[in-house]
Amino acid sequence: MPPIYQTSTYAQTTPGGHQGYEYSRSGNPTRTALERSLASIENGQFGLAFASGLAAIDAVIKLLDPGDEVISTNDLYGGSYRLFRQVFEKYSIKFHFVGMQDISAIASKINQNTKLLWVETPTNPMMNVIDIEAASQLAKKHKLLLAVDNTFATPYLQRPLDMGADIVMHSATKYLGGHSDLVVGALVVNDEKLAEKLYFLQNASGGVCGPMDSFLTLRGIKTLHVRMQRHCENCRAIAEYLNSHPKIEKVFWPGFEDHPNHNVAQRQMKDFGGMLSFTPKGGSYEDAVKFVESLQVFTLAESLGGVESLAGHPASMTHASIPKEEREKSGVVDSLIRLSVGIEDVDDLIADLDQALS
Ligand SMILES: Cc1ncc(COP(=O)(O)O)c(C=O)c1O
Repeated sequence: MPPIYQTSTYAQTTPGGHQGYEYSRSGNPTRTALERSLASIENGQFGLAFASGLAAIDAVIKLLDPGDEVISTNDLYGGSYRLFRQVFEKYSIKFHFVGMQDISAIASKINQNTKLLWVETPTNPMMNVIDIEAASQLAKKHKLLLAVDNTFATPYLQRPLDMGADIVMHSATKYLGGHSDLVVGALVVNDEKLAEKLYFLQNASGGVCGPMDSFLTLRGIKTLHVRMQRHCENCRAIAEYLNSHPKIEKVFWPGFEDHPNHNVAQRQMKDFGGMLSFTPKGGSYEDAVKFVESLQVFTLAESLGGVESLAGHPASMTHASIPKEEREKSGVVDSLIRLSVGIEDVDDLIADLDQALS
């Protein structure tokens, strides 16, 4: 097993005479092992591990200069949206949010200042699917960087670099770690010059993850494929159960044939993942809150991607930082409930939803 190098510094024999490591912000052998593993599972050359998913996104946006513009999706994870709008707009970086499942909507926002497309697919929490290959063709035509937040799908289901993305990003806090016991972020790239710039930013800004969290993420990655298989199976069974329930209005899950981006999902993903959202019929904010409060096997909590099932109310939790008008435009209504389906016995999970709906 990789040792946990619980050290901030490394003895030198003479000034500069070290064995590859000087100081743990710049590099730590346990983190290096994780960074190699991240690169390997995403089919990339260079991996970088950060203190959180947002620290990883922060490093990507710092590649840009004032005046540069970014196009992203309009049902982006709330924390990414907050980082873009409330931190980076101050430094004169401009962000556009469009329904990226429609590629022509992306094209309509491109101008000479555009530098980056920021894709998240499937999206959080509306489960829209964005065509990575089509986005990559557009990015190449206009010489833009394409970054894909692969947190929901994981490399078990889709590998964005293979589909033409320049940067793949993860909140490793979720499926890669897999046990809801750490906060870590990741970037993987193929281009050496881009990697050098990102390694520089990682060290210069300092949002690195520690050796213990690196070790835990490495341990999680070992079982990623087995967990994902079960997440997908359980989520499919729950999507079908909810879809046929008389009290449910709509289930958002890309595995349904009538999901607007089902064909793209089928082409670019190996299966449809462990996440879904739904709205109960005639549901209100209060009904949604009552529903999530009455669950017993699903834990009401922020986050996703752990072995234990979680339920969330995006309007008051993950997406509370997006103004109501803005979030409702993309479907994040007050009655929406999001499930991160874990790997428990699926009958227990369905029985729990059943009692909460009755
Ligand atoms: C899709 C997505 N991207 C990024 C993040 C941010 O990651 P972290 O919480 O590790 O900073 C999250 C967290 O929920 C997420 O769901």
